Amino acid sequence: MSAVVSTEGVGFRYGGVPVLSGVTLGVEAGSMLAVTGPNGSGKSTLLHLLAGVESPTEGRVRRAGGARLSLLPQRTSDIDALPLTVAECVRIGRFRPLRRLGRADRLAADTMLDRLGLADLAGRRLRELSGGQRQRTLLAQALVQDAEVYVLDEPTAALDAASRQRVHELLAERRAAGAAMVLASHDAAESALADELLTLG
Ligand SMILES: Nc1ncnc2c1ncn2[C@@H]1O[C@H](COP(=O)(O)OP(=O)(O)O)[C@@H](O)[C@H]1O
Ligand SMILES: [Mg+2]
Repeated sequence: MSAVVSTEGVGFRYGGVPVLSGVTLGVEAGSMLAVTGPNGSGKSTLLHLLAGVESPTEGRVRRAGGARLSLLPQRTSDIDALPLTVAECVRIGRFRPLRRLGRADRLAADTMLDRLGLADLAGRRLRELSGGQRQRTLLAQALVQDAEVYVLDEPTAALDAASRQRVHELLAERRAAGAAMVLASHDAAESALADELLTLG
């Protein structure tokens, strides 16, 4: 089977400073890659390259034609400046150009709010949430998207054990439905959920 997202000899430099070099990987439909490594080893940078947020300074990143990608970035403080409620933030995950949200989209968003224990917080603004509540909201926005590839940067780092378990169930469902998953994680138990491990640094 061919990879939904792959890299070939990818390298990246910030200014002149090399962060990644010679990274070759491929993630197939229905499989999960965990990217581990110490702080500063380039996990977030690699995920940004896979998502097309940054372009590699060497090598290539490829995505199967038409494959939609959902990214949960690690650094997300800019979004707090927007006056969005939790429910609005999650519904944004269903937006597509030139298409109104329909019943199925609202249902998907409501289901995701429930699944991540956010239903009671639906009307709150993002900046009124605890760190874990905010992280669950951003995860809900990422996971409610209908994508072929999910790229999640330390998705459960701020979460308690129960929330982490709910997230892992959602990841397993997306994967069983055929999505390709890439997640950066410090957590050995979380990395063990993956089919493949890439250790940086
Ligand atoms: N915007 C940036 N400009 C310059 N250096 C950066 C920038 N972002 C990250 N770096 C550096 O690149 C390296 C890798 O960072 P990052 O990909 O965030 O690592 P990780 O996610 O593994 O902690 C670090 O040394 C970091 O300081
Ligand atoms: Mg990081």
